[in-house]
Amino acid sequence: MAGMERAIDAEHLRRVYPKGGLFRRRGDTVAVDDISFHVPRGTVFGLLGPNGAGKTTTIKMLSTLLIPTAGWARVAGFDVVRQDRAVRRHLGVVLGGDRGLYGKLSARANLQYFGNLYGMTTDSIRRRTGEMLELVGLTERADDRVERFSRGMKQRLHLTKALLHDPPILILDEPTIGLDPAAAIDLRRAIAALVPRHSVLLTTHDMHEADQLCREIAIVDRGRVVAQGTPAELKSRVSGARRVVIETHETLNGRALEVERAIGALEPVRSVSIRPEDRGANLTILCDDTARTLDDTLSLLRRYPATIRTVTVIEPTLEDVFLSVAGRSFE
Ligand SMILES: Nc1ncnc2c1ncn2[C@@H]1O[C@H](COP(=O)(O)OP(=O)(O)OP(=O)(O)O)[C@@H](O)[C@H]1O
Ligand SMILES: [Mg+2]
Repeated sequence: MAGMERAIDAEHLRRVYPKGGLFRRRGDTVAVDDISFHVPRGTVFGLLGPNGAGKTTTIKMLSTLLIPTAGWARVAGFDVVRQDRAVRRHLGVVLGGDRGLYGKLSARANLQYFGNLYGMTTDSIRRRTGEMLELVGLTERADDRVERFSRGMKQRLHLTKALLHDPPILILDEPTIGLDPAAAIDLRRAIAALVPRHSVLLTTHDMHEADQLCREIAIVDRGRVVAQGTPAELKSRVSGARRVVIETHETLNGRALEVERAIGALEPVRSVSIRPEDRGANLTILCDDTARTLDDTLSLLRRYPATIRTVTVIEPTLEDVFLSVAGRSFE
């Protein structure tokens, strides 16, 4: 794929699972309705969506495991239907589930076995196995039986297995699902280390993971892409989610309206409300730029008898993005 800009192109992918008999068209499941996205080379790209959004179905089409009902896709420049063998040569895939490793064999022996299966030479198997185990942090456990591995270690070994033939592109379905937080951090670190040598497409319904790990994200809901961009771009499109909240010790009695007007006149501020609280006041400020708003508001407040008790800065999250494009919360 030398010279190619994009690792994966998906255009108007669609997949319908027929229900029951051949002629009963009613009740078919439209798992993927219309999904398009492009994965730039050397980056981690995320398909983020709630349960049943169509993520796994999409990546099964890209991995040549399912034929699209409509639309097309290219992986490493090859058509997933007409050039499926070439696609598989350029692809490493890790789907969910624990299968595909031999518990009685060591990590190293598992990789040797699969390397042989892929037709790799003994030399290159030895070299790649060493490199990949190092990359995912399993070198010290390389000669232990896999049945004694934790879930996170097994998941990292799956990644190693998918990387053995050095594919330029990796597809990972919910790589950290079911892992404890520490194991998830380890695995994310290993995934982040794959770029820019490899291009990675992963699915997740973990907003934090998508935010942290992915250069770009396509948010998928009900078989469609509802938003796409870098995490920062996506979050910048959400209005009303960026807030500065300041609590003061004084109630600002009598001057609340004046303060409200003054803050409201600040450039990055969209709206402000001041509420009396038990012992003091709460200023909630909606704005376009939290850093500037905080700065300007604090210097303004110095002119009033208002000592600050707490300051909270709230930036939009991908959860807010999902809420704004899908009209409901993620879970
Ligand atoms: N083999 C199948 N036969 C019929 N329907 C299916 C099949 N596989 C998936 N579906 C349906 O297609 C839709 C999309 O499923 P898919 O597994 O692609 O979603 P997903 O985004 O991966 O969800 P999750 O986050 O739960 O893994 C769902 O409504 C699901 O029930
Ligand atoms: Mg899935």
